[in-house]
Amino acid sequence: MKFFIDTANLDEIKEANDLGILDGVTTNPSLMAKDGVTGTDSILKRYVDICEIVDGDVSAEVIATDFDGIVREGENLASLHKNIVVKVPMIKDGVKALKYFSDNGIRTNCTLVFSAGQAILAAKAGATYVSPFMGRIDDISWDGVDLIDQMVEIYANYGFETEILAASIRSPLHIVKCAELGADVVTTPLKSIMALLNHPLTDVGLAKFLADYKKGNA
Ligand code: E4P
Repeated sequence: MKFFIDTANLDEIKEANDLGILDGVTTNPSLMAKDGVTGTDSILKRYVDICEIVDGDVSAEVIATDFDGIVREGENLASLHKNIVVKVPMIKDGVKALKYFSDNGIRTNCTLVFSAGQAILAAKAGATYVSPFMGRIDDISWDGVDLIDQMVEIYANYGFETEILAASIRSPLHIVKCAELGADVVTTPLKSIMALLNHPLTDVGLAKFLADYKKGNA
């Protein structure tokens, strides 16, 4: 399973990259705004800065919601760096654009996916990645894990090459569930990646090993 980090913050991206487990980055307009990156030029520059840190796919989201606008913006984003994946919303013109990009060799990430039906459409249109938003599904008292389960089954039934990029991850348990089900990628905030490290028995065990070493080597 590939690990992407879901942030526009360069320090967080460097920290995850330094851990040696990072395969890519996803961003969205909210994450850019949260990091104080505003205005087209600054946003485009941030994508390039991210691509220079991480050797892996970097999702860059279009703002346009009409077919021509999505295509224009997506082609511009894709020209920034070979690792850019154009992030396209799950709307009617978005699906048309996914097909256009797929036919023209531009890789895509279909975002804001909340149902198996949407996931089928995105795969049929040739999306490279499809992002089901697990946490936001949980937020409305449905189960994000169920959607990943459905998608894994459906994509396997038909041999879709589209990769399942589980998004809106809120906890280390989400990551483990995705791994159990066979999601291709998880994109998570830094804190969920780091939370995978923690186990109280590791802390207790390490403290004892170090104490015993000190006793024997005093
Ligand atoms: C996916 O690519 C999105 O950026 C992201 O995972 C959304 O997560 P959120 O629901 O925590 O905003």
